[in-house]
Amino acid sequence: MDLNNQVVVVTGGASGIGRALCEKFAAAGARVAVADLNLQPATQVAEQINGIAVAANVGLEEDIQALVRETEERLGPIDIFVSNAGVAFGDGPGWMAASGSNDNWMTSWNVNVMAHVFAARALVPDMIKRGGGYLVNVASGAGLLCQLGDAAYSTTKTAAVGFAESLAITHGDDNIKVSVVCPLYVATAMTEGGRGVTGQDTMMTAEEAADSVLAGMADERFMIQPHAELATYVERKGADYDRWIAGMRRMRQGMLEQHPDYAYKV
Ligand SMILES: NC(=O)c1ccc[n+]([C@@H]2O[C@H](COP(=O)([O-])OP(=O)(O)OC[C@H]3O[C@@H](n4cnc5c(N)ncnc54)[C@H](O)[C@@H]3O)[C@@H](O)[C@H]2O)c1
Repeated sequence: MDLNNQVVVVTGGASGIGRALCEKFAAAGARVAVADLNLQPATQVAEQINGIAVAANVGLEEDIQALVRETEERLGPIDIFVSNAGVAFGDGPGWMAASGSNDNWMTSWNVNVMAHVFAARALVPDMIKRGGGYLVNVASGAGLLCQLGDAAYSTTKTAAVGFAESLAITHGDDNIKVSVVCPLYVATAMTEGGRGVTGQDTMMTAEEAADSVLAGMADERFMIQPHAELATYVERKGADYDRWIAGMRRMRQGMLEQHPDYAYKV
């Protein structure tokens, strides 16, 4: 797809995958709005790529509406909106599945899921009037499998995949293109010192993940999986759910042997 002069918003654009996406879109000629909770690093990225920086908490609908308004006033109608901002907190003490605080669950829900709903609500009607548009929602491999040690992340990323499916099915005939991005591990601030299954899966760079997103968008592919091995894991899960749960339990046990301090005690 020709990105030249396209108006692109990337949320969470100040860091990691979002930052790499901003740089790649700009290099391809797009005019980019770098949206982030943190304005200062977003401004640094925007200055480097001749884009604009917008402060927004994507978990708040009024911030998404203001982000859309400001971008359209300054750059013109939005062609592509990438909902990339995401949060991961890890389970609470003892690593029990429901141990995360309600605050962390609700922030995960708002940022990882509702932000995608707010963006679609703010953009889809106008995109339909203009003849189409592109929504790219960054979920995670955790939305197709499970992130050990983070039930809120796994649950909300699964919901993000579900919402992207609804968007693609409902608005495909309106020429709204939808991609959902499901990476495994990417070396960013989010995975630094993380206690996932890092090391067992290929850890790629944010630039490699961003390249994969642009390649998937060029093909207008709904499901973008930067890590090739994910498809095999998803296939195995689909073929035999109980076997998959048993395998994940074994993997969890292996992690607990390495980190006995993560185990809960009742
Ligand atoms: N790093 C990985 O291994 C990995 C794997 C799969 C999926 N993902 C997903 O990729 C996306 C980007 O993650 P990353 O690894 O680049 O993380 P990161 O922590 O480097 O970047 C996330 C950015 O989002 C911003 N952000 C957080 N909450 C926000 C909010 N409420 N409003 C606006 N901005 C907010 C942060 O300030 C930060 O700049 C996330 O959705 C994440 O869940 C990451």
